[in-house]
Amino acid sequence: MAEKRKFQAIKGTRDLLPPETELWNRVEQTAREVFGTFGFGEIRLPIIEKIDLFARSIGSETDIVGKEMFSFEEYGFTALDTFRRNIITLNLVGPEPRFGFFNPQIHVDRFLEALSSSVQKGEIAKTPEVLSALGSMTELRDQLTAELQKEKPDPEEVRVYWSAIQQQAKNVHLGDQICLRPEATASVCRAYIQHNMHALTQPVKLYYMGPMFRRERPQKGRYRQFYQIGAEVLEAITPNTDATKSLGKDAAVDAEVIEMVMTFFARLGLEGVQLDINSIGHSAPECRRGYVEKLRAALEKVKDKLGPDSQRRIETNPLRVLDSKLESEQGIIAGLPRIGDSLCADCAKQYEKVKRQLDLRGVKYQENWRLVRGLDYYMRTTFEITARGLGSQNAVCGGGRYDGLVELLGGAPTKGIGFAIGEDRLILSLQEAVKGSVAQGRDVYIAWMGEKTLATAIRAAQNLRAAGFRVELPPVEQKLGKALGQADKLGARYALILGENEVASGEWTVKTLADGTQELVRGEKLVEFLRVQKKKEV
Ligand code: HAM
Repeated sequence: MAEKRKFQAIKGTRDLLPPETELWNRVEQTAREVFGTFGFGEIRLPIIEKIDLFARSIGSETDIVGKEMFSFEEYGFTALDTFRRNIITLNLVGPEPRFGFFNPQIHVDRFLEALSSSVQKGEIAKTPEVLSALGSMTELRDQLTAELQKEKPDPEEVRVYWSAIQQQAKNVHLGDQICLRPEATASVCRAYIQHNMHALTQPVKLYYMGPMFRRERPQKGRYRQFYQIGAEVLEAITPNTDATKSLGKDAAVDAEVIEMVMTFFARLGLEGVQLDINSIGHSAPECRRGYVEKLRAALEKVKDKLGPDSQRRIETNPLRVLDSKLESEQGIIAGLPRIGDSLCADCAKQYEKVKRQLDLRGVKYQENWRLVRGLDYYMRTTFEITARGLGSQNAVCGGGRYDGLVELLGGAPTKGIGFAIGEDRLILSLQEAVKGSVAQGRDVYIAWMGEKTLATAIRAAQNLRAAGFRVELPPVEQKLGKALGQADKLGARYALILGENEVASGEWTVKTLADGTQELVRGEKLVEFLRVQKKKEV
């Protein structure tokens, strides 16, 4: 008998349950409302994209692309793929050894034949994996055949040959390398190019929400499937624009995007919000690249005092050393050269303008020269927002400017700025503030008693729901005491008591559960009565 197994959600993923999901819905609804008032429209993007999209944009040296992607291969339903699947899924030895019943080598022959024909036709590239499969699978097939032809084949030998064959088959890439998206900025840029959005009125302002995937070590506020609410502003660069005017315009756009996310947080009542801003200049020798060299030289001098991660980053990405949270490195980092002193004239000017724009909008910020962000596509403005109650994973939003990314992905020269909010963290911080007292509740619990009252109870539930009230209609009748107990447990505000007398007279009893008071209300006046009560509560 098969063992009874209790399935669990995969590590780093979670089920979100009521009543918490009510808060998620409220947050998402508020985002739609606030972003709508700033002229943003929603874009819905696929969850799977080609790996290359992220390798090119986020950067192949970053942690996200280097080690955190959930990826797989996408191939058509070709004969070659079917033959390969036959090999990979065939279990030669195990609880039910299959050899002896038929000839497994036939799958290998079919696969090799189809593979060499596809290579000849140029449908599949001659990669080292393909060449190795063509060479060594033939050899392994012969060895397996010899073993199976023995009077008593050795299961261990068969297993070794067959797993080697399976491994070779797995190594052959038949299609595109696909991944679950780790973020959505690159996808938005891809969509902007794909749908010729440069031909629309510029800038194009888009927002999105949905799950993202990164294979990180799970902890509070850090998951492998997490949710982001993000927004991006994209604007095609028109030739011959006045550079100085353009700096001012960009600064206004940056500040408005930041103002929008701060307005959203304020609307939600998020507490302990802190906005950090910085400029990381642009990638030119007289700006960021020059700074990175200065930084690298300074880090080389203190290399011995740094931890292994930072030591490695001196070579690969010295800017990331500034992100270090290691206690022992804080004093050293404080003495390192600062990017603000190395910005080119235009980047410095733009940064000043962003700060002025934020001041004009009454947005409070803190300058943080160490804020470099972990994705390669940023330039000039970068920002991060932290909130209360999140422990070490306290960044609830990150964003910045990424002029040039659309071009890097094959589009025309385009400017971009945006942010993404970690929705899981936002919810955690909101829950912390109200200490988890998000009750799902009902507005009305209908306590119906006696078969004859059921039709009236159903109609009352329909009318109340149509008017937007949350109604619980128990499927079977209950004694009044039990019904009121149940109403209490569900956090209902009112109990509508329908006995045969009430139904006959048309005068229904409405009990306010908080204080136990009761009123008689005519059936047809019930919706209006509850509306008035609700207004009084607000
Ligand atoms: P990011 O800083 O990688 O930026 O992520 C933004 C936010 O997503 C973080 O501040 C955090 O709140 C949340 N987040 C990231 N990883 C996790 C995780 N494993 N678990 C829970 N929450 C997480 C971006 O993704 C950029 N695309 C933002 C952007 C948009 N820049 C310009 N436009």
